[in-house]
Amino acid sequence: MEPAARIADLRRQLDDANYRYHVLDEPNIPDAEYDRLLRELDELEAEHPDLITPDSPTQRVGSAPPAKFAEVRHALPMLSLGNAFSDEEVRDFVRRIADKLDRPRLLFSAEPKLDGLAISLRYEHGVFVQGATRGDGATGEDVTANLRTVRAVPLRLRDGTAGMGNGESGMVESGDAASPIPHSPFSIPEILEVRGEIYMPRADFERYNEHARLHGGKVLANPRNGAAGSLRQLDPRITAQRPLAFFAYGVGLVEGGELPGSHSATLRQLRAWGFPVSALGEVVEGVDGLLDYYRRIGERRDGLPFDIDGVVYKLDDYEGQREMGFVSRAPRWALAHKYPAQEQATTVEAIEIQIGRTGAATPVARLAPVHVAGVVVTNATLHNADQIERLDVRVGDSVIVRRAGDVIPEVVGVIAERRPEGAEPWRMPACCPVCGSEIVREEGEAVWRCSGELSCPAQRKETIRHFASRRAMDIEGLGDKYVETLVDAGIVRGVADLYRLGRDQLLHLKLVLDAESPEALAAAVKPHLRPEGSGEVLNAIVRLDGGSDDWRAQALAQRIDFEWNPKKIATRWAENLVDAIDRSRDAALERLLFALGIQHVGESTAKALAQWFGDLELIRHLPWPLFKRVPDIGGEVARSLGHFFEQPGNQQAIDDLLTIGKVRIRDAHPPSARLRPELDLAALLAEAEIPTVTPLRAQALVAALPTAQAIIDAEPARFVAAGLPETCAAALREWLDQPGHPKLLLDGERDIARILADAPMLEEAVTGPLDGRTVVLTGGLASMSRDEAGARLEALGAKISGSVSKKTHIVVAGEAAGSKLAKAQELGIEIWDEQKLLDFLAGHDAS
Ligand code: IVH
Repeated sequence: MEPAARIADLRRQLDDANYRYHVLDEPNIPDAEYDRLLRELDELEAEHPDLITPDSPTQRVGSAPPAKFAEVRHALPMLSLGNAFSDEEVRDFVRRIADKLDRPRLLFSAEPKLDGLAISLRYEHGVFVQGATRGDGATGEDVTANLRTVRAVPLRLRDGTAGMGNGESGMVESGDAASPIPHSPFSIPEILEVRGEIYMPRADFERYNEHARLHGGKVLANPRNGAAGSLRQLDPRITAQRPLAFFAYGVGLVEGGELPGSHSATLRQLRAWGFPVSALGEVVEGVDGLLDYYRRIGERRDGLPFDIDGVVYKLDDYEGQREMGFVSRAPRWALAHKYPAQEQATTVEAIEIQIGRTGAATPVARLAPVHVAGVVVTNATLHNADQIERLDVRVGDSVIVRRAGDVIPEVVGVIAERRPEGAEPWRMPACCPVCGSEIVREEGEAVWRCSGELSCPAQRKETIRHFASRRAMDIEGLGDKYVETLVDAGIVRGVADLYRLGRDQLLHLKLVLDAESPEALAAAVKPHLRPEGSGEVLNAIVRLDGGSDDWRAQALAQRIDFEWNPKKIATRWAENLVDAIDRSRDAALERLLFALGIQHVGESTAKALAQWFGDLELIRHLPWPLFKRVPDIGGEVARSLGHFFEQPGNQQAIDDLLTIGKVRIRDAHPPSARLRPELDLAALLAEAEIPTVTPLRAQALVAALPTAQAIIDAEPARFVAAGLPETCAAALREWLDQPGHPKLLLDGERDIARILADAPMLEEAVTGPLDGRTVVLTGGLASMSRDEAGARLEALGAKISGSVSKKTHIVVAGEAAGSKLAKAQELGIEIWDEQKLLDFLAGHDAS
């Protein structure tokens, strides 16, 4: 490319990036990339000085502030800093100062370079009156109202004497010093401008984004954008909700008062007046002191609670600073020494899915390797599908990767201009890459999940731990540590394998886990070995490499035949565990259902399913809409049950439990009579969430087409003839043409017939005078607590509810009953007073 054309190209890219960064707060390329482009432009312009124009990005500091905030002219310009990327550049900086100043030793204030937003705070007579952003250095934006919301910005200065040192050197202390502090000779100046950095602490940033990702809010690309974006909100109430912090690092205009003679002493004075000052600052000597400081802070960088992009060196004494002066807009007495950037550009080679231990599917970008903050990054999290959609990340895209602290690297942005032709939007794959089960997501939720709860190797440990837990199958003695090891060693692959564990195998496991080394294991195993071949086994154990944890896995992989030795404690543990496993074979249906670990199916749902359907065979093949016939089971839980039982892997695991594991349901019973009312094809259609098919329309449809097969075979015209509007008829036909839906109707019809055949008649099931009646208790009762009254009514068959609706049958209104009583009156619901309740209970209570 011709130099002139390249220069124009670079200027366009830089101008664009500058505008997005300074005006829109939506950076499109990482800083490191910006710096590279600017350097290239600088070099080209140096080679071709005739091509330099006054509007080149090399000729200015930033763009003008937008119109929305009032402008503030800084009394003293806010300067920028020269940058150093190498030790050599630092040596040059120190040499220039040493050459100009005639000093035996050079002291510098060394500070972290916080990555946030520079601001200037103006105090008059100790009171905060105005705060402004840096803007172009000469003029900034008036963000006073927003800054007031930042708790770290003092609104009134303390007439501080605390934290004062006496000398020109020494540390800036992190807390108020414990030793007696000399009185400050400096009172608060009439006018004081303090300069510093507004930033967002990393942990707050992560928390903020986590919340935004779950609730669909705006996700911040990095803490710096978070700080800048928050401060530039026009509504200070929004700023107030953002976790912003502040560190002071210098002063601007000072009138009607004095400051100490050095920068470090000024920082101590600022701290005494109430400004937060970084505790990482130090006074160091000469170039060695600077480079040592750079190295030490660099080592701590990942662990700091905030992002830094470098350190700043400032000649400490003001007199020296004055002598050094300025070059263009940067002081000659200060320098920013940069660390490797925390953001870099690279390309996405693939987007893959990782399944976590609870089944959550996290998309991960596989990247062309790139150095980010000193580490080679090849993978970065994309968090979830919503985030990919928000960023519109595609395979082949150039993206910005951020790595800060010990947080996993993440993709924070796409460089849209560099998208290759033909790059397609990304879609969540239909199946789990680990087990092949469907990947599903509930409406309104950010997280997609693998629905192979029981069969997915990624979820194995969690599934087995849950299955064995006390409230599930209650296999006592099978702690997390054992589950972990059994799975890692490949001994247990699914829940059914638990039922294959033998005493000797468990004994072996415990001995391996308890042993400290192969030698110790050999010694522990020895008394349990069968005589034949035991020497070989012991030798094999001792040969394992004790240097890594792997020797345990190797030891577990060996088959060791034990001689039964009932006197040892360890054998008793194994024996007890085998007993506990054996006992769990005889399972209550609700416990087994809970133990399967189906998403959204907790203990109470499991209990309701067991009570209403009574039979695992019915439940595991039931079309999901029919689950909604159980009160308190809504669409979300029903669909989750449907997804679970649709996965062949889960069905296989249940088969294995019943056949290999010999698990038996001890309390199977026919479906509840309460399922009977309105259980028909129309109900199935109404519950199936077919767009526009309402219960009334479903009834009209079934009146004309009484079987599932008739509906499946019908043309839309037949639906219209049955009374459905045309759009509804079309929607139904479309639904029927989707795979799986005809089967859903046919299976549902079959199961309805089965339930109606097996369930007892409603009358037979009546157990109390209040069966099927919903009762609401409100107000205070004199003779008993509301809980007690509720329990006694429930014993008579009532369902107790907390709120009054059209479905409520009786409201018991005690003393000072309020809105619930009013609502009951409004709806014309039967109302009982306490006496009526007592009479009723007296007449019906079982004695
Ligand atoms: S001193 C005359 N000290 O770095 C010197 N700046 O280009 C003026 N920054 O955006 C700056 N930490 O906000 C100084 N300890 C520190 C700093 C610091 C961060 C930022 C500053 C400005 C940029 C300098």
